[in-house]
Amino acid sequence: MSSQPIGVFDSGLGGLTAVKQLRAIMPHENIVYFGDTGRVPYGNRSVATISRYAKQDARFLLSHDVKMVIAACGTVSSTVLDLSDVLPVPYINVIAPTAAAAVKATKNKRVGVIGTRATIGSCAYKKEIEKIDPEIMVIQRECPLFVPIVEEGFISPDDPIAKLTVERYLKEIKEQQVDTVILGCTHYPILKPVIGEYVGEDVRLIDSGKETAIYASKLLGEKGLLNSSDAEGECSFFVSDRTDDFASIASIFLQSNIGENVDRVEIWDY
Ligand code: DGL
Repeated sequence: MSSQPIGVFDSGLGGLTAVKQLRAIMPHENIVYFGDTGRVPYGNRSVATISRYAKQDARFLLSHDVKMVIAACGTVSSTVLDLSDVLPVPYINVIAPTAAAAVKATKNKRVGVIGTRATIGSCAYKKEIEKIDPEIMVIQRECPLFVPIVEEGFISPDDPIAKLTVERYLKEIKEQQVDTVILGCTHYPILKPVIGEYVGEDVRLIDSGKETAIYASKLLGEKGLLNSSDAEGECSFFVSDRTDDFASIASIFLQSNIGENVDRVEIWDY
């Protein structure tokens, strides 16, 4: 049983959707979150650059003595495949748990996957789904404007920019009559109301942060690494750029107030 924190990182704020789920599922766990806000977005960068950034992010978390590292970032998860080899603690990413949930959810065997340019280009979700069930048809679409839209806070279901962008990107997926859509980037659950309204209520939206949090809890349990304390877990937040507006934006992702609990990290040092 271990009171060491769980380490979670993302290119920016999107991974907080996974933190929200981790806190709901494992309220006694301590969490250290790193959001690489100084280098976001990762989604349009080369695999070599994403890989270099991801290793620095993980090394920073290790400096906080974490017991597990979670890449709560679809882009890192789909492009950096060798991170588990360089880490001394269990490492998980969002691909396998999310793909498994989509396979379980689909009835008509037509699944849509949306993500950043790097995620869709890697076909990581598609390959994982086809490995489990080759009969499932996967329709992919990159949605590069979703991350800046979320980081800018254009997220209300009535926001005309969000609505128009969702319609533009998801038109084909809707026409293909999928019954399940993977929100393959951890920023996207914030746009769930807009996306849900466009694709219709019969379409299941799979939240990669949520599925990964469920998997993390299972794995920690199996390894005997869950925190045995009854106290509420503590969360520490770190970013690589300005901290002044982090709390207000983070509260949207977490749906709770984090106060002043955020520090800046010089991530190039790791
Ligand atoms: N949350 C990241 C992801 O899941 C955002 C992508 C980006 O930085 O471009 O892919």
